[in-house]
Amino acid sequence: MHARLAGDFERFGRAFPRDAAAYVREAYGIDLTARYLGHPLPHPIGKGSGQLSLNTDQLDADREAGLAFVVLKTVIAEDTAGTRSMGAWAVHEARMRVGRRRAADGRDGWTVTWKGRGWDRPFDDYLALVRAAGDLTRSGELLAVPSVKYHLPRLDEPFRASEYQHTTRRLAEAWGDGELPLEKDFSPTLAGDPLADERARILRWLREVPREIRSAAGATPLRLAVKLMNARFDDGFQREMMAATAGVDALVCFNRLWDPAAEVAYGGWDLSARNLRVLRAARAEPASAGPRRPLVGTGNVCSGRVVLDYARAGCESVELHTFLQLPLREYPATAGSRTQRALHALLFHPVDGLVAGILELEAAGVLHRRGGELRFLDLCGMSAPGAKPDEAPA
Ligand SMILES: Cc1cc2nc3c(=O)[nH]c(=O)nc-3n(C[C@H](O)[C@H](O)[C@H](O)COP(=O)(O)O)c2cc1C
Repeated sequence: MHARLAGDFERFGRAFPRDAAAYVREAYGIDLTARYLGHPLPHPIGKGSGQLSLNTDQLDADREAGLAFVVLKTVIAEDTAGTRSMGAWAVHEARMRVGRRRAADGRDGWTVTWKGRGWDRPFDDYLALVRAAGDLTRSGELLAVPSVKYHLPRLDEPFRASEYQHTTRRLAEAWGDGELPLEKDFSPTLAGDPLADERARILRWLREVPREIRSAAGATPLRLAVKLMNARFDDGFQREMMAATAGVDALVCFNRLWDPAAEVAYGGWDLSARNLRVLRAARAEPASAGPRRPLVGTGNVCSGRVVLDYARAGCESVELHTFLQLPLREYPATAGSRTQRALHALLFHPVDGLVAGILELEAAGVLHRRGGELRFLDLCGMSAPGAKPDEAPA
């Protein structure tokens, strides 16, 4: 298997296969099936909301590469008059800088430095993108999901229902037939804003925002994910946020860290260390600590091994941004789009790739074949390392 993997890595670095997940299943007996918001995915690697999901050209390249799903850039909600209470998040900033960031434990990782925030073009342009996303999703070519930032009140203020209603209804119309998948973003810039200074205020948002969105959607069927921020409090508060979030179909954990001195969000190994620490602690908590919701990981996914770390902490899929925008020389592949080169490294790297990591878990007795196959999703649901085949979830 390892010789085969070395050969595939070499070969696919020159030409990435169209259906890599089918190939992995056939060649290695590994079923990479994953999930996002209940949608089955061929493998767990998707794109997080941001500057890499602003237009249909980017969606086409991701579809062509075989990415599992894409979350569109976050749009800032508005009411019928076009008023946006979170308008401060609709700033225009084109320049991004991809660079190294050393983590507290000394590991060098990558981060993107960018002073921008949400969608900065007219709402109608976003709706055109949502129309394309609905078509791609319905045709089964690529699951593409809108993302929104809605009004967030202070404790003594009501929610601006008009913003929730107008935005959600327009998104649902643009999406078209079928259930609307939606991600609600609580961003790192929000974590750095005085609005998020108070724990009680954040917990109220998490309890009430999903209800506001559902009520705004009316009869439109909706599947809702909330992407939680890394608040400026301790790990315990991150777990409190997870437990407080009510009425959602999935939690995306957790958006980038906030650097108050440089006033920028950042990633790298500090981000994955914090996220994995919190997710593992949340998983170890008794069921009485709160309901278990499907989880999606995000933060410094830069190898198949990190995908597996998130999976073993309970995540059914992962959302990447930084690893999809590295300088081309950083990818081992010599041809293909950035998304193809990233998938090539994440899936087929003979040491750090997903296939290599899953085979290693099999050899270590952590993961067992069922029906002759090793299944990615078994890792997410496994209650303890070493669970036997008959204990693994279906
Ligand atoms: C330049 C940039 C812009 C981003 N914009 C958004 C956004 O609009 N909405 C959102 O939910 N996340 C946004 N993110 C967060 C990413 O989707 C992702 O969750 C985060 O960067 C962690 O993954 P990474 O370490 O692979 O970059 C952005 C990230 C970057 C780097």
